[in-house]
Amino acid sequence: LDYEVILLAAGQGKRMGASRNKILLHLIGKPVISYSLNTFLNDPACKHIILVAQEDEQVLLSAMIKKEAKKIRCPITIVSGGHERQYSVYNGLNAVFSLKNIVMVHDGARPFVNLTQLKLLHQKVQETRAAILGVPVKDTIKRVTDGIVQETVPRETLWQIQTPQAFYGEDLLAVHVCAQQEGYLGTDEASLIEKYSKLPVSMVLGSYENIKLTTPEDMLIGEAIVKRKRS
Ligand code: CTP
Ligand code: MG
Repeated sequence: LDYEVILLAAGQGKRMGASRNKILLHLIGKPVISYSLNTFLNDPACKHIILVAQEDEQVLLSAMIKKEAKKIRCPITIVSGGHERQYSVYNGLNAVFSLKNIVMVHDGARPFVNLTQLKLLHQKVQETRAAILGVPVKDTIKRVTDGIVQETVPRETLWQIQTPQAFYGEDLLAVHVCAQQEGYLGTDEASLIEKYSKLPVSMVLGSYENIKLTTPEDMLIGEAIVKRKRS
């Protein structure tokens, strides 16, 4: 069973503090978005890439695809984003070929997802209908209110959640419609599945390299990761 992917690029990148959207910033000579785009283009199971982008960046992005995409193996559809990440996903969902298909959602700001992780995630979603990538938390996490530590949260059960997250299109659409009716905004797709469906979400062990580029320091870490991969 093949899948379609919604690749999110319609943010502003405010926390990056750059003069343009962070997914267009260059990371060792290539725009951030081109890394994950090429990874999906290299996955034979990926049958459709839906790139969600701001309207005024779409011309730039289609030019970038022509230049940076190594081989265009599957159709790439560009659709407009929304004011919130969740609305951008919803717009992407309206462009899928079929809601019967598996749909992955990926942050364009995560350049380092690799084919091994895509394969593991793809296998798991076919078994359980809902699967997400992540890694166990490394730091000690405490709950703090008004500057006072309330408790240390047992770390064994805590995971840091990444993308891609994989579901069936029909399940994802159903929970998005529920969330929209209630005006609920989740920070990832799985949180909507947890809240509005009975489907258990399976956790797939990813990699600590699959970081999201959020603040300027992340660009330095990103450069180091690219250099290590190349050496
Ligand atoms: N995104 C999107 N549409 C939005 C908001 C975010 O497609 N309305 C995308 C971003 O482009 C990014 C991913 O969702 O690839 C993860 O979001 P985040 O890291 O928060 O990116 P930004 O919203 O761009 O950054 P910031 O919150 O710092 O402004
Ligand atoms: Mg954001």
